[in-house]
Amino acid sequence: MKYMEIKFCSKNVDEQEIELLFIPVLEGEKHLSKIVQDLCYEEEKAILNRTKKENFIGKQGQVFTIYGDDLTVILFGFGKENKVDMDDWRKAAGSLIAYLKNYRAKKIGLSAKHWLKGNNNINNFAQALAEGLLLASYDFIKYKQQDKNKIKIELEEIYIELDNAKKNAFKKAWELGLLLARGTILARDLVNEPAGVMTPTFLAETANAIAKNNKNISVKILDKERIEKIGMNAFLSVAEGSEQAAKFIHLIYHPARVTKKKIAIVGKGITFDSGGLNIKIGDSMEQMKIDMGGAATVLGVFEAIGQLKLKAEVHGIIAACENMPSGGALKPGDVVTNMQGKTIEIGNTDAEGRVTLADSLAYAQKQGADTIIDLATLTGACLVALGTDYAALYANDQALNKSLINAADKAGEKMWSMPLPVEYKDLNKSNIADIKNIPSTRYGGSITAAMFLQEFIKEGVVWAHLDIAGPAYAEKSFNNYTPIGGVGFGVRTLLEWLQNN
Ligand code: BES
Ligand code: MG
Ligand code: ZN
Repeated sequence: MKYMEIKFCSKNVDEQEIELLFIPVLEGEKHLSKIVQDLCYEEEKAILNRTKKENFIGKQGQVFTIYGDDLTVILFGFGKENKVDMDDWRKAAGSLIAYLKNYRAKKIGLSAKHWLKGNNNINNFAQALAEGLLLASYDFIKYKQQDKNKIKIELEEIYIELDNAKKNAFKKAWELGLLLARGTILARDLVNEPAGVMTPTFLAETANAIAKNNKNISVKILDKERIEKIGMNAFLSVAEGSEQAAKFIHLIYHPARVTKKKIAIVGKGITFDSGGLNIKIGDSMEQMKIDMGGAATVLGVFEAIGQLKLKAEVHGIIAACENMPSGGALKPGDVVTNMQGKTIEIGNTDAEGRVTLADSLAYAQKQGADTIIDLATLTGACLVALGTDYAALYANDQALNKSLINAADKAGEKMWSMPLPVEYKDLNKSNIADIKNIPSTRYGGSITAAMFLQEFIKEGVVWAHLDIAGPAYAEKSFNNYTPIGGVGFGVRTLLEWLQNN
C-alpha cells in the first residue's frame, strides 16, 4: 500500500478526484470570506452564515466542514497571519490527521496557495507538513487488542497545488521532514517500550541495526570486561545491582570528507531507575522506564543522520544499564572512580544518572570530541523548575546555547536557558572524595546536577547539557502531533542543529 505520497498539480486541486479538501484559514473575517468566495458555491451566503453560527473565525484548532456529494471541504483554523511559523504547519497537519481518524479517506487535497503566495518559505512549509503528518499519525498500540470499530488512517495520496518551479524544493524539504519524523518516532518507540523488553541489550541491538543499515555509521558495543578495562568504574558501579548486563554503546557517523571537527551526543541510558538501595517510594517509580529517554534521542538522531551529508564526525555515546537494589548493589557512602580518575562519593543511589554520565562524558572527551551535547532525564527538580514541557538547557558556551535555542525553535521543541553559577560550585563538595553525587541543599537540584556534570568537562571543550526529565515523556499530549507517551524529545532539534554545524 502506498502511504502518504505527495502529488502536485499546477492548479485546481479539487479536480483530482480527491475525497477531502483541506484549506487552512487564517484568523479573521476577511480571510474566511475570500476563501469561501473562491470555492464558488451557489449557497455561498448560507455557508458564511453557518460559519457565524458555529463561531468559526479561523482560530487555531477550529474546524468547519462543508459536506458535498463528491467533495467535502474542511476549513481549519490556522491562527494569526503575522505569527504563522513552522509549528503552525505541524499543528495544521495534526488537525488533518485528527480529522482522518473520524473520516475514511485515501486521497485528499491540501490547498496551500494562500500561504505560498509572497515570500513564505516553501522549505519550512514542506518540512513541517511532513513532520506533522507522520508524528500526528503515531500510535504505540502493539500491546493493545485491535479496536475493530476504530477508523484506521489509510492516507495514500496528498495533492498540493504548486508551481512547477517549486516542486523540487518542496520534495527535498518534504523528504527531510519525513526523515526527522522517523528519527523522532524511533525514539518514541524506545521510550514507550516497557523496561522488561527495553534492556541495555535491546538498546545495543538497536544501535547495531542502525549501523548495519547505514554505510557511514559504525558501532562499538563494550561489555562489562571492556568497560572495566578502560576504567569506567563509576558507570559499572551503578549497574552492579542489576541482573541485566551493562552495555556501553558508541556509534560514529563518518562524514564523506575527513574532518577534525568531532561532535559527541551523549544520552543517559538507565533502562529502569528503581532508585537502587535508595529505592523510590510511592508512585514515583512507575514511570521510570523512561529514564533512557536521552539514549533514545541519541538513537533517534542516528536513525536519520546517515542521510544528512553532514560535515562533522558525530559520536553517539550511551552508558546503558539498570539501577536496581540487590545484595551486590552500590551503597550510599561508597566511593567510585570514573575513567578520568576522579572519585565520586555516593550520597544517594538514586542520583545515578550523573554517575554514569561522568564516565560517558569522560569517554567522549577521550575520543577527541571538541563539542559535546548530553541529554538526560536527570532530575525531578527540573520538573519543579520548568514544568512538564520544557527542557533545561545548560551550556558553557554562549554560541552553542544560542544555536541550540534556535534549532529548538525551528523544531518546535521547548527549551529554556539555565545558569551554571560558580557560587553554587561548592554545593557538590564531598568530605572524602573529589565530588559527591548529591548536593548539600535540595534547592536548585537541576542546576547542581548540571554543575556536577560540568566538573567532568575539560578546559576548552564546548559543552551543553539538556535536562529532559519533563519533556522526554508526555503525561498528557503536548499538542496535536505529540500524543501521550514517549516524545522523542530533542531528535529534531539536534538534527536541525547538526545540519548547521
Ligand atoms: N530518573 C530520575 C529523575 C527523574 C524524575 C526523571 C522524574 C523523570 C521524572 C533521577 O535518576 C533521580 O532519581 N534523581 C533524583 C536526584 C536526587 C536523589 C538528588 C531526583 O530528582 O529526585
Ligand atoms: Mg554501518
Ligand atoms: Zn535515579
